[in-house]
Amino acid sequence: MTVDPTSQPASSNPAPERERDRVRIFDTTLRDGEQSPGASMNLGEKLEIARALAGMGVDVIEAGFPIASVGDFESVRAIAAEVAGATVCGLARCNDRDIDRAWEAVQYAQKPRIHVFLATSPIHREHKLRMSREQVLERAVAGVRRAAALCKDVEFSPEDAARTEADFLREVIEAVIEAGATTVNIPDTVGYLMPSQYAAMIRDLIQNVPNIGRAVVSTHCHDDLGMAVANSLAGVEAGARQVECTINGIGERAGNAALEEIVMAIKTRRDYFGVDTAIKTERLYPVSRMLSTITGLAVQRNKAIVGRNAFAHESGIHQDGMLKNRTTYEIMQPQDVGVPQTDLVLGKHSGRHALRDRIVEMGYTLNDEQVEAVFNDFKALADKKKEVYDEDLAVLVDKRLGDV
Ligand code: KIV
Ligand code: ZN
Repeated sequence: MTVDPTSQPASSNPAPERERDRVRIFDTTLRDGEQSPGASMNLGEKLEIARALAGMGVDVIEAGFPIASVGDFESVRAIAAEVAGATVCGLARCNDRDIDRAWEAVQYAQKPRIHVFLATSPIHREHKLRMSREQVLERAVAGVRRAAALCKDVEFSPEDAARTEADFLREVIEAVIEAGATTVNIPDTVGYLMPSQYAAMIRDLIQNVPNIGRAVVSTHCHDDLGMAVANSLAGVEAGARQVECTINGIGERAGNAALEEIVMAIKTRRDYFGVDTAIKTERLYPVSRMLSTITGLAVQRNKAIVGRNAFAHESGIHQDGMLKNRTTYEIMQPQDVGVPQTDLVLGKHSGRHALRDRIVEMGYTLNDEQVEAVFNDFKALADKKKEVYDEDLAVLVDKRLGDV
């Protein structure tokens, strides 16, 4: 997203006054995230993640798709019964069996939610559902009515909203709110839209659906073109007040919007977005590690916020700047996301300033001549090795001290 620091975010948000500055974080790691190939988790693992999510302050945990399997049903039921604080949500297609099963699983939660979805785009209507617009509209309303008769918190998602005709999308959203939906989620199911297009779709609904103010508008973006986070944030700018996302961005195909990136963008650029989340950001890195350990899905090194390189600096110019004032090359403090400290990696791009500081940190006292000699040895070694560790440096320093 291109950010003009002087511009103001759009303020077309229709949510009630008290909600205007607050973006709810809806975590779907245990549902959409688990649909990521290789990410399936057992009940104990799901409970562990759910407890961590609630502890981190997420507003809604989508715990699973209860009709999908007995295991999924049991996991959603266990999370609903045990995990306090967050709303616990179960997914259902728009039919009675799915909806009743979802309710059976979430009903004992402190704050239960049923999430009903039905595809609305012409591609899905024609090729998957083989239903007309009228049939889709009727089914959506009937599903939401059934869910609302069971549970006072009902979310509706028009699957593939991003490729749905604007007039039909408005009609569906208006009808489901009338039928009792308290959250309307707008999925870019196949990660197709560009940020300005996604924002325009949200803005269009907010401006043109008469009763939209009775529901929270939510984003749900996939990452097929690498736009999931940008699109979600564009949705927030346009007035959405719930964001659906997953830890480490796991999910179907290229994944969902990454929770840690959404949360830190909103926090770091509060001046721009003018809203907050309730996330305890220092839990982001530990929860990312927990998920990666449980699923075995590695986090890419250069991943924003939680990747190993996110707070690492190697080049001499950057390290020198950092040692003089960290704000030269860091816009967030590593401790804010639960990373213990900035990592000044010693490699072939590093300079004297960082090397000298590391030698002092390691407890050595060297004169300028010795530092220069160690620096030359270090550069020669760094040319052969990706990273020079403290143990390598100790050998170089000991050798020079021995020379004296
Ligand atoms: O991507 C999608 O459309 C979904 C819905 C079920 C919300 O995951
Ligand atoms: Zn999805």
